[in-house]
Amino acid sequence: MKKIIIAIDGLSSCGKSTMAKQLAKNIEYIYVDTGAMYRAITLYSIQNNLISKGEIINKLELQKALPNISVNFKLNNHSLSPETYLNGINVERKIRSMEVSNNVSHIAKLDFVREEMVRQQQAMGVEKGIVMDGRDIGTTVFPNAELKFFIQASAEVRAKRRYDELVHKKMKADYEEILKNLTERDEIDKNRSISPLRPAKDAIILDNSNLTIEEQDLFLLKKFNEKIASLS
Ligand code: DC
Repeated sequence: MKKIIIAIDGLSSCGKSTMAKQLAKNIEYIYVDTGAMYRAITLYSIQNNLISKGEIINKLELQKALPNISVNFKLNNHSLSPETYLNGINVERKIRSMEVSNNVSHIAKLDFVREEMVRQQQAMGVEKGIVMDGRDIGTTVFPNAELKFFIQASAEVRAKRRYDELVHKKMKADYEEILKNLTERDEIDKNRSISPLRPAKDAIILDNSNLTIEEQDLFLLKKFNEKIASLS
């Protein structure tokens, strides 16, 4: 069967990763969480005192270090989900902390960081058969992706989902702080000069505020099957 590239973009915490992961599992494609890549670079920057409280302390140092920072994914044999590794260390849990969330948009708007991440992401898609989620996949990373989704949901629904996820993982969670963080991040992501967050012209827009996980999974699968049928 012909393999395609599926781009899933959208607002923070709207469940993109959950649905992208499930779709990839259903159709046996590779799943790539590009937000995790920006989060890993942010964690590196925090650990090396290159950023603090949203202020970039040493941009030049980060630019110099970037070629030597390795971010990759390995499958967890128990959960069967990919986990993020920073320079060989599993950082899957650490990159989801509020400290990383509060700093990541500032790292993700640096031109040299975006250039390097986009280069790595494009290399991952050379053989197609990939579901990639992020903010600029359908617009910048794979403007020719065969299938593009743009996912949105109300800020309150998204904050509640992130809150439940953190509580479930037994991590520190404060609903008001999460709501503030994700609305601020959306603003920075939408207004940055390079690859701002916006739907690609040919993206299918899905508001999942009132959808169950099963309903959204079925929607994506239906669109995938229609696309494959139209290509054969
Ligand atoms: O999807 P996420 O919340 O894990 O993403 C973390 C941050 O990374 C988000 O605030 C914006 C940024 N990001 C980006 O700029 N481009 C991407 N392709 C993915 C994420």
